[in-house]
Amino acid sequence: MNLGFLRLITVLGMLFYFSGSTAGEWGKDIKRIVIPFGLTANQLPDPQSKGAALLASYCGQCHNLPSPKMHSTGDWPMRFEKMMDHAMLMARASPGVKIPADKEKKELVSYLEKNGFRELPANSPLRGEPQIFNVLWHCSVCHAVPDPDQFPAKEWGNIVDRMNIYRKKQGREEMSNADRKEVINFLAKKRQ
Ligand code: HEC
Ligand code: HEC
Repeated sequence: MNLGFLRLITVLGMLFYFSGSTAGEWGKDIKRIVIPFGLTANQLPDPQSKGAALLASYCGQCHNLPSPKMHSTGDWPMRFEKMMDHAMLMARASPGVKIPADKEKKELVSYLEKNGFRELPANSPLRGEPQIFNVLWHCSVCHAVPDPDQFPAKEWGNIVDRMNIYRKKQGREEMSNADRKEVINFLAKKRQ
């Protein structure tokens, strides 16, 4: 993850944590953290499912609802644990914070895993291709590098353009045309 973004999030997290604990009133000060590109409950994948309902109820306590597609299946369990650490910490100062029961935790993690994307395995030979640097640079500030195999080649142009809009919304430099082409070529290239 990019250092600037990490720093920003840490600062936001600290502001949030300390404001919550000094005010001592959970309800009033929540939702100060804004996850870029958050969703409303009915935009979640499979919105009627138990997993979506749990996400809306627990994950919406501190910020807007993150898309479960925003992280890879492999990264979600660790991301989830980090959120539970935040929740345990905040629950000490603000008893109003709801912590999911063990069974609900399992359901949440499997919902997140099910809807996350597949990341490029650490030992993939694709990691040895020179273009990977450009992909890491432009994509891994927000999440893991996706495995190119999981989407048809012709989809990658649209996906990369959508990600470029997120970059812009987050105040990051947009990808140049040359970078955009190289990243799409890397993701859409047929390999046997
Ligand atoms: C007790 C408060 C709290 C709860 C509950 C909470 N979060 Fe967070 N979340 C945070 C804080 C603080 C940050 C910013 C610091 C960080 O990234 O750890 C954050 C940031 C995030 C981010 C952006 C950073 C990243 O990893 O991409 C995502 C995604 C996220 N949360 C997902 C979730 C999900 C999914 C849940 C429910 C399972 C959840 N959060 C529940 C406090 C919370
Ligand atoms: C500024 C943050 C950000 C950056 C940078 C970013 N992404 Fe994403 N990515 C997201 C978010 C948010 C989602 C979930 C919402 C969505 O799919 O539109 C996501 C989801 C995805 C998904 C899953 C889509 C699905 O339908 O399951 C893929 C694949 C992906 N990104 C690829 C990339 C690639 C390739 C790059 C680099 C060119 C990249 N991302 C850069 C934020 C980012």
